[in-house]
Amino acid sequence: MGVTKNFFIGLSKNQALNSAAKKWGLKLGAGKVVAGTDIKSMMQSVKELNANGISATIDSLGEFVHTEEEATKAKEAILKTLEAIQIYGVNAHMSVKLTQIGLDIDTAFCLKNIQEIVAAAANYDIFINLDMEDYDHLQQTLDILKTLLQEYENVGTVIQAYLFRSEKDVENLQNVRLRLVKGAYKESAEVSYQEKKEIDENYLKLIKIHLQAPGYTSIATHDHHIIEQVKAFVKEKNISLDRFEFQMLYGFRSEMQKDLAKEGFSFTTYVPFGKDWYAYYMRRLAERPQNINLALKSMISK
Ligand code: FDA
Repeated sequence: MGVTKNFFIGLSKNQALNSAAKKWGLKLGAGKVVAGTDIKSMMQSVKELNANGISATIDSLGEFVHTEEEATKAKEAILKTLEAIQIYGVNAHMSVKLTQIGLDIDTAFCLKNIQEIVAAAANYDIFINLDMEDYDHLQQTLDILKTLLQEYENVGTVIQAYLFRSEKDVENLQNVRLRLVKGAYKESAEVSYQEKKEIDENYLKLIKIHLQAPGYTSIATHDHHIIEQVKAFVKEKNISLDRFEFQMLYGFRSEMQKDLAKEGFSFTTYVPFGKDWYAYYMRRLAERPQNINLALKSMISK
């Protein structure tokens, strides 16, 4: 892992800067990849995506949750966003991070919160994706998913191709709607592939397994090499276009997003919004150092 990546992952964990950034409004170029700090501005972006045939998965941003009060506040913001999806009548579902609603505080408390969210979403016929965080939270996230699936169908999760265990996880989750990604956190060589080539190979392998399983597959990547290989594979195997979709993050390769939707592929854009944009933005800078140009230009032009 490069020095730059480590640097920005480090910054993403800086709680003091995170707290300060909440008061700044969107700064450092974050407005390019975060769709505003409130529901109204975020919904404007979602409507524009919908007008281009693109659906949205909305993330009400929130990090560094340490108290039940903070987790409850985050849960309420998510419930409000679900209601807004209904009121605005947009084509969208939600992505939720379990640490945001109390996973680090108490598992039973977190389970209660996510049950409330998934139940509310089920009433509106909205899907909830449990985002996958770092390795320390993975097993708990899968355990909570398992519990939720006993009662609800409108829930799925993310599997990260950089982890050795992911092939087994995909096999165990054949019937579940999965988002497949390369993986965004810094994980040890004991549990994860470290080389891009190995990660890419495993990523394609997982995609091919899940595309042939009953569960719906969301292929979340900006990597055109992977996308081209997926297109060739679904054509070769005659996999119907309603069995999978592509996903990308808001503000990334926007023209390619529209082009894929125009080509007839289902497409969903991950739309983060909220005052808590700082750690999300630092992780994006860590992934793609070219994005630093965005941040620098924005700082210089201020
Ligand atoms: P990668 O960064 O490996 O890029 C491969 C190649 O694609 C580059 O070399 C370049 O050629 C091209 N490319 C990439 N970005 C480009 C750009 N902006 N412009 C031009 N060319 C570009 N992670 C996680 O751990 N848990 C999660 O829950 C999620 N959720 C999630 C949702 C969605 C919708 C997405 C898109 C991603 C995630 N991720 C995630 C993040 C994911 O794990 C991964 O870190 C990033 O997507 C970066 O990897 P890529 O597959 O995009 O390609």
